[in-house]
Amino acid sequence: YVPVPALAWFAGDFLQCLSTQVPSQLVLTPTSPSFKPLLVSSIRNARFVAPATARPPLCIVTPTNASHVQAAVRCGRHTGVRLRVRSGGHDNEGLSYRSQHPEVFAVLDLAKLHAVRVDPRAATAWVDSGATVGELYYAVGKAAPGLGFPAGVCPTVGVGGQFSGGGQGLMMRKYGLSSDNIVDAAIVDADGNLLPNKKAMGDDLFWAIRGGGGGSFGIVLSFKLRLVPVPPKVTFFSVTKTMEQGAVDAVTKWQTVAPALPDDLSIRVVVQQRQASFQSLYLGSCSRVVSTLRDRFPELGMTPADCREMSWLQYVAYIYFGDAINTTPLDVLLLNRTMPIGPFVKNRSDYVRKALTNNTWNKIFTWPSAAAQGELILEPHGGRMAKIADDDTPFPHRSGVLYNIQYVQFWKGNAAAGGNTSSTPDWINTMYDYMAPFVTKNPRAAYANYRDLDLGVNKMVGGVSTYESGKAWGERYFVSNFRRLAMIKRKVDSGDYFRNEQSVPALF
Ligand code: FDA
Repeated sequence: YVPVPALAWFAGDFLQCLSTQVPSQLVLTPTSPSFKPLLVSSIRNARFVAPATARPPLCIVTPTNASHVQAAVRCGRHTGVRLRVRSGGHDNEGLSYRSQHPEVFAVLDLAKLHAVRVDPRAATAWVDSGATVGELYYAVGKAAPGLGFPAGVCPTVGVGGQFSGGGQGLMMRKYGLSSDNIVDAAIVDADGNLLPNKKAMGDDLFWAIRGGGGGSFGIVLSFKLRLVPVPPKVTFFSVTKTMEQGAVDAVTKWQTVAPALPDDLSIRVVVQQRQASFQSLYLGSCSRVVSTLRDRFPELGMTPADCREMSWLQYVAYIYFGDAINTTPLDVLLLNRTMPIGPFVKNRSDYVRKALTNNTWNKIFTWPSAAAQGELILEPHGGRMAKIADDDTPFPHRSGVLYNIQYVQFWKGNAAAGGNTSSTPDWINTMYDYMAPFVTKNPRAAYANYRDLDLGVNKMVGGVSTYESGKAWGERYFVSNFRRLAMIKRKVDSGDYFRNEQSVPALF
């Protein structure tokens, strides 16, 4: 292979190269007044807005067709300028628009490539990877009532990042992850070639891009999805319990009940401020779910008054926007991406295979600094998730997993002044340390889409990321599939052009 230069000697040459192949209005440099607004447009985490963490890219390229993406890769390869690819910009460590490495890079922002083409008769859809999950839900729900797609709760997350790393949501117990329902894809490889389908890319690369994480193997232009049947009415319910109302007992029981419930029913839990909020999707009527839970999970105390029946499309809006959808049209799912920047956020994750005791939960609920500091989001597995083999796709957390934990810490700081960005408040790390004996071990597994640079970052030797350094984080996300991913990386990008602090390194 031709090694990519470690430093971009030819940054000007990159822009020159692009100028012959991409219309100038699609390439923004820092001198443009639109540059900064575009850069921050899909940043959701204030940690990455501060000057200390956000070294600006050389430029932002906003392709409107595949040839622009190919040109960016070819020009980047030729001149040694790296690319950070951004779809929805929700990467938990901001790796789609910032680099911790001292390298010159450009952002390839795919937001203009966001078409969704639904084929209701075949129950499939092609979605461009710059679309948001909300845009996908809206297009499917409008074009094909009776069909849906299993993906995450937040409608502004991008298809490109989420489906590349898995995509868990409230239909995964019935239908698996988003990545389990990808049947074809189009990608631009490290040589700038357009590989329009899985036949052109080959089995290995097609396997790797369905869960092996974004930013490692190429730039996915679009995915072809298998849509899934949903009934005319689904049921939402939410029950919140305080400690005084039995929250600890209910969560303790939930751990073994939720993964074993009928696949049509998924109940996730948000634990925060000494309360547990049980939020659910049932692919059926209120009366059925009430009777199921009366038998299987009476501790929840759920009644018909807790239910709301609605269409699946209404549901995906309701779970995020709540009662606002009573007065707002459903096209709220097509939200303008330019949203106000939220708080500072840090996320970590774990998997649980053996239920925690009541005492352990009691300790978590009464954690001294729990109030307003952070939350635990528990997502039940089981059902379809447990029936897919660990190596069917790169996502290995299957049979035997009871649930996934996401730890989220929010805090306030002065992003513009660069203040309070480097130090994460204590809660998340002390809670993560406390949980070590109770979660998976050897490795202590984590979910690739809840990216966490504290698990480790790649080291560079001879201009390429080393496999040994990647194992620190890679075996946490992918367990034994990490090795196969690294072998595929060698085959498709041995020069390590597509790389970031946690991209899959090649195994030589
Ligand atoms: P972004 O554009 O930042 O990309 C993420 C990574 O993928 C980067 O490395 C990027 O370079 C790469 N990438 C992006 N597009 C690519 C493309 N077309 N080809 C190749 N690589 C590409 N997860 C989940 O499973 N279920 C959930 O319910 C949620 N909910 C949620 C809510 C909120 C508020 C946040 C911030 C995050 C989540 N997530 C989640 C996690 C989310 O799935 C994860 O952060 C995704 O990587 C985000 O995808 P974006 O395209 O938005 O990110």
